[in-house]
Amino acid sequence: MKGYITTILCASSCVGNALELDISQAISDAEAQKLTIPEESEYRVPTLNQYGYMFTKFDPIVERFLHLIESNPEQPFFEVGGAYGNVAEAALEKGAKNYGLNDCEERHLKSFAKKLQDQGKTELFQALHLISGRCPEDVKIGPNSLEAMLVNKVLHFFSPETIDTFVQWIYEGLKPNGRVFVMTISPFYKGHQDLLAAYQTKKETGIRFPGYCSQFRESKAAQKYEEETRPASLLFMELDTLKQLFIQHGFQIEEEFELAIIDQDNHEWMPGQDMVGIIAQKI
Ligand SMILES: C[S@@+](CC[C@H](N)C(=O)[O-])C[C@H]1O[C@@H](n2cnc3c(N)ncnc32)[C@H](O)[C@@H]1O
Repeated sequence: MKGYITTILCASSCVGNALELDISQAISDAEAQKLTIPEESEYRVPTLNQYGYMFTKFDPIVERFLHLIESNPEQPFFEVGGAYGNVAEAALEKGAKNYGLNDCEERHLKSFAKKLQDQGKTELFQALHLISGRCPEDVKIGPNSLEAMLVNKVLHFFSPETIDTFVQWIYEGLKPNGRVFVMTISPFYKGHQDLLAAYQTKKETGIRFPGYCSQFRESKAAQKYEEETRPASLLFMELDTLKQLFIQHGFQIEEEFELAIIDQDNHEWMPGQDMVGIIAQKI
């Protein structure tokens, strides 16, 4: 069992973390285990642990996050569930001096470290902290320490029972006025029509999270994804549910998004119904 760990983000740029991977060791492990980042198809790179895909084309929420980093590169930033590090790489290239890239699948982080080395981008390592572990339980962020956090396509893996602890953990880790950038899956996601009737019925009962699908992996909708990417459960949220969740934990909503998913028919992020997102500020 993993020990409880402490992340301390200092003003300078240090992160003390019991689960911070040593980058040289991560690269050696990736070589020994022959880890490589899987091939991209339709902007998606499959995860190794049944948690969907990393997307290679940045959505408008990621773009905003990167823009903030570019204008405040000295500040500490943290990304939950960043998979193979494509946003982290862009952030570091934009000058981030203290970037925590987290994922609960160590092989994702190790593959990313090896990729940077293979591409001769080792100068990026000094600002990069690879934080392996499941948020929030394995990763303790120092209170009021982060300028901003990115939670992109990760929130939907929580359940109605676990989500409040996670959002509270985000709130506590951010500095006053710090921001969280979130994107998550909506009940109107393309190709998930067979789940919609159950969602509407549950919504009519007035429950807080009508979009929780505890048996997603067994659903018809799930069968169109490769088996190795299929999550066990999914928590679908409409924009209003997402906003209320963050407002209840002390955030103010700054910006909101409703987006169509990118795929072979839709090559650009544009307004639509598949994904919802917010930029929210700690007040
Ligand atoms: C769907 S992928 C999204 C990757 C990337 N953020 C993106 O938007 O393209 C979700 C990633 O989050 C990780 N993950 C899921 N739950 C997590 C948790 N509680 N803590 C840390 N990582 C988590 C998974 O291992 C996976 O790499």
